[in-house]
Amino acid sequence: MRYSPKTKTVLALETSCDESAVAVVRMDERGFHPICNFVASQVQEHAKWGGVVPEIASRRHLEDLPFLIEQALAKFGGSMRQIDAVAATVTPGLNGALLVGSVTARTLSTLHQKPFLGVHHLEGHLASALLSKNPPKLPYVVLLVSGGHTELIKVSRDCEFHRLGRSHDDAAGEAFDKVARLLGLSYPGGPAIEKLAKFGDPKSFRLPKGRISRAEGGFYPYDFSFSGLKTAMLRQVQSLNAAGGELPLQDLAASFENVVAEVLVERSIRCALDQGLNTLVMVGGVAANKRLREMMSKAALIENIAVHMAPKSFCTDNAAMIGVAALKRLESGLSSSSIQLGVSPRWPLEQAESLYLKKAPF
Ligand code: KG4
Ligand code: ZN
Repeated sequence: MRYSPKTKTVLALETSCDESAVAVVRMDERGFHPICNFVASQVQEHAKWGGVVPEIASRRHLEDLPFLIEQALAKFGGSMRQIDAVAATVTPGLNGALLVGSVTARTLSTLHQKPFLGVHHLEGHLASALLSKNPPKLPYVVLLVSGGHTELIKVSRDCEFHRLGRSHDDAAGEAFDKVARLLGLSYPGGPAIEKLAKFGDPKSFRLPKGRISRAEGGFYPYDFSFSGLKTAMLRQVQSLNAAGGELPLQDLAASFENVVAEVLVERSIRCALDQGLNTLVMVGGVAANKRLREMMSKAALIENIAVHMAPKSFCTDNAAMIGVAALKRLESGLSSSSIQLGVSPRWPLEQAESLYLKKAPF
């Protein structure tokens, strides 16, 4: 291991929703390296209820985090002395769940006299693209597509975030989860639908591509709506049930997956072209979807746009991406967050820099 002045190592925690995650990530002049990345998923526990139960999530984080930290430090092969900073997700997410990670990180940072960095979860997702073999170069447009967010974000040359489009109702991942429940599949719905869709005909059902109308006429070109699609799926299932016989689950799953991918691809490519940017980045849980990855690559190639995707294993929530975001902040000269920094269920990504102010914004 060669150490350069740029070499920095962080211990990162992620507990914003239903995954307790701990990673040790190193930055050197060659890039970002996840030394270890542990995720304890609570999926099975929440599956019984068809979605995330906040109380259960907080309790499980509290139980799992100490073991995960111990495991991560053992794999790292060093002690807290070799760690330069401790990072944790502080927003957005479930309040109680965020609090467990943030209090744990602040305790470790105080105890071992290391800087604490409070990270914006979406900045973490954006940073996950830097873990790919071929990381993107600024500026670019990012399609952030997860269980809680579907957004098109421009990241400028000086790394500022500008949201250009968003979903007005369900996030794409949420639509996958709700439609999976409708089809009697397990939670989380994305992987369950993907598995079935592989064997279905994506053109068997005509489904709507939700659009958001402008008061002055026309549509917002980069915005999304998935609630109409969800209702269309419900109607389709109801009429198939009324007709009797078995539901063509594979065809339903394939048609749904295909139309979601089409919408995401069309609007992302349009956005990149309109912005005059030839780099497109795709991150977040839904970005793990194979059909979406293939369709995005194909469409981008036609338009001469370079697509960079987070590696599949770093698409869904993980702590390595939180570590990379923290290291990027350290690299840019922001040395720490206030130890008084609390947590917030919502905070705009555009104001992520305020998390590093001496006076904590929340
Ligand atoms: O990024 P993530 O782990 O958590 C949030 O920050 O929301 O995303 C989770 C979402 C879930 O809605 C899940 O159904 C979806 O990502 N997802 C997928 C796939 N894997 C996870 N959706 C489609 N295809 C997948 N392979
Ligand atoms: Zn996430």
